[in-house]
Amino acid sequence: MADVEALKKEAGIAACKYVKSGMKVGLGTGSTVKHTVIELGRRMAEEGLEIVGVPTSLATEKLAREVGIPLVELSEIDGLDIVIDGADEYDPNFQLIKGGGAALLREKIVAQESAAMVVVADDRKRVNTLGAFPLPIEVTPFSHEATVRALSRLLDCRVNIRMAGDGPVMTDNGNMIADAHTGPTIRNPAKTELDVLRIAGVVQVGLFISMCDVVVLAGQDGVSVYLNSHGRLSD
Ligand code: A5P
Repeated sequence: MADVEALKKEAGIAACKYVKSGMKVGLGTGSTVKHTVIELGRRMAEEGLEIVGVPTSLATEKLAREVGIPLVELSEIDGLDIVIDGADEYDPNFQLIKGGGAALLREKIVAQESAAMVVVADDRKRVNTLGAFPLPIEVTPFSHEATVRALSRLLDCRVNIRMAGDGPVMTDNGNMIADAHTGPTIRNPAKTELDVLRIAGVVQVGLFISMCDVVVLAGQDGVSVYLNSHGRLSD
């Protein structure tokens, strides 16, 4: 039986088939898509693939540099051809929870700038209703206690600031992450996204609505590709 790490690697590498020479590629963050980044670097070095990348976090920026992918800023280019990224959950409508790695803001900006989004995941990420994975919300450090209280009232659940040891996790943007323990109750994620974004103090929420075009999923029976019939990669 394949272990989770092997599944992540399978999915991460399989997604590289969507990347062709000349593309501008958003490089996601996390333990699955890191295999995509490494494979793209290998294909550049060994197979003549030519791409430029935009990383979604400082961690991915470091990895991309290590494997030799040239990087550009979003401000230097007119959009991206594709972004490949991980997810914490995805539902039957291809709506996502992301931000388990605290990179949701940059990930969402990069996804928004991309002509297509490929998600790489192992089969534990597929759910019927979003929310068993605590919903990550990036909040300003200023008055974060008040923002957490407002989120808790809105979502009617426990919300806590994500900690690392004695201090809060700080994002690459100098903000904090509030995790909302909604349970699998997010039946209308588009509405939840808008409701959360209305709270002052919220920078961004890890609900990715109508962004994902395909999920490359690795399970015990191998890699499966699920195409969003309403997405930008369907015929
Ligand atoms: C980073 O903030 C997240 O959105 C990741 O993309 C997500 O948590 C998936 O990560 P793994 O592939 O490590 O599970």
